[in-house]
Amino acid sequence: MTVSERIEQLKSEALSAVASGASTADLEDIRVRFLGRSAELTEIKKSIGTLSPDERKEIGRSSNLASREIEAALGSRAEEVAAREQEERLQAEAADVTLPGVPFPRGHLHPSQIVIDDVIDFFVGLGYRVAEGPEVETDYYNFTALGIPPGHPARTMQDTFFVDDGLVLRTQTSPMQIRTMLAQEPPVYVVCPGRTYRRDSDPTHTPMFHQIEGLAVDRGLTLGHLKGTLGAMARHVFGEGVEIRVRPSYFQFTEPSVEMDVSCFVCGGRDPHCKVCKGAGWLEMLGAGMVDPGVLEEVGYDPEEYTGYAFGMGPDRMAMVKYGVPDLRLFFEGDLRFLRQF
Ligand code: DAH
Repeated sequence: MTVSERIEQLKSEALSAVASGASTADLEDIRVRFLGRSAELTEIKKSIGTLSPDERKEIGRSSNLASREIEAALGSRAEEVAAREQEERLQAEAADVTLPGVPFPRGHLHPSQIVIDDVIDFFVGLGYRVAEGPEVETDYYNFTALGIPPGHPARTMQDTFFVDDGLVLRTQTSPMQIRTMLAQEPPVYVVCPGRTYRRDSDPTHTPMFHQIEGLAVDRGLTLGHLKGTLGAMARHVFGEGVEIRVRPSYFQFTEPSVEMDVSCFVCGGRDPHCKVCKGAGWLEMLGAGMVDPGVLEEVGYDPEEYTGYAFGMGPDRMAMVKYGVPDLRLFFEGDLRFLRQF
């Protein structure tokens, strides 16, 4: 066999090896076998110097062509094999996205917070601002500035936690009326949710509970504005069908003062055995009134120019009636069996 014939033979052996090379590693072996430093074709090229000039030209050309052809075949086969190997890897590592996931335990809002958010949303929609204040309050803001001076029986009637000289745990969110008015000029439209404290514990009282205070001071505000606003709020929180009624009452910082009831949203006043209203047809909801001129003077507002209304409600109580919970203490015990029901 001539050298040229041997080159042709090596080339076709190499090409068929490449064609059946099944992996990147196979192809690397084939490259070493046919083109490596001690491959036969390489040896032939090394010996070219010993040949006659004519042979040298012929063998040089055909051995180079053979190498290049083998290189090219290796290159394109390597691409095919790599693509297939990648495909196989992806198949093997694929995740079955249809398998059920691991459920993530998800919390939700506390029933009192649901009512607070609902009330706040309503007032924010009317343009009221939201303000929060301290739970340890001076007795000036909690009492004196609200028409309850030292020695006034209301101070003990409110089951106050006295903390220290002149400090109490706030018994109501009403001190936020004073703080708000001292910090700004009228008009004022503000709601103040927060925690309040009284020494009291039974099925409908807990030492910590929530209140939401509301205050509007502007030119020309009347009891009509108060009634209209609170009626719309009751419909927002308890449902379109509810009605309200306003009864005379007494608070030291409003004149006149009222209490507001909502018609029972469960029986509508038609069921004498209703568990929620106990047949009364009405549910007590909040205290309110026109801001006492003395309070406006206390904060430096001119009561001849401005009038205002204020209201205070207990969102925990509202949640009790809304969700039919008989014992307020359940709200604050943190028992998940209770809380998960909302
Ligand atoms: N602070 C009162 C309470 O805790 C509730 C209240 C009544 C708030 C009348 C008001 C109001 O703003 O005008 O019993």
